[in-house]
Amino acid sequence: MIVDLKELYHEQLREILCAKSQMVATLPEYSRLAGSRQLRDVLNRHLSVTRAQRQQLLDLLAGHGLDHGSDEFRPMRGLIRGAKLQLARTLTGPVREAVLIASAIRLEHLEIACCESGRLSATRLGLDDDAQVLLECLLEDHEAVEKLTTTGTESISPEASHPVAHA
Ligand SMILES: [Fe+2]
Repeated sequence: MIVDLKELYHEQLREILCAKSQMVATLPEYSRLAGSRQLRDVLNRHLSVTRAQRQQLLDLLAGHGLDHGSDEFRPMRGLIRGAKLQLARTLTGPVREAVLIASAIRLEHLEIACCESGRLSATRLGLDDDAQVLLECLLEDHEAVEKLTTTGTESISPEASHPVAHA
């Protein structure tokens, strides 16, 4: 049972760590599936950023004397599983590219929501250094969303919106 804001914050930190770990596991697969070099570059660069964020979360948890907790954040797992099912039903080419970008944007927004919630708790607890780390994380994720959106706008051809005849 969560009895106070401090315990809630600790749980939020563990959730953010899980989300980052799941992103570190997922982004290489998305990069492998990406057809365009532009999208691969965006995904690979954000993989490096996410690895660093994950280490920052580990440091925050250690600073509070906390263990890692669960290996999985269920909302993130649900989004990743849904995207994998959609990808399995999607032909390669521009439509797959659009699915990858849409999924990555959804995942980033979930990360942002988690970091924003954690930052709010940290601020209310007077943990200004923690709040600053979480602010930087969510700004980096906002930047990733912008790059993914730009990539989607620039790299996905109009043919992606046309229905594809199946054999
Ligand atoms: Fe991210």
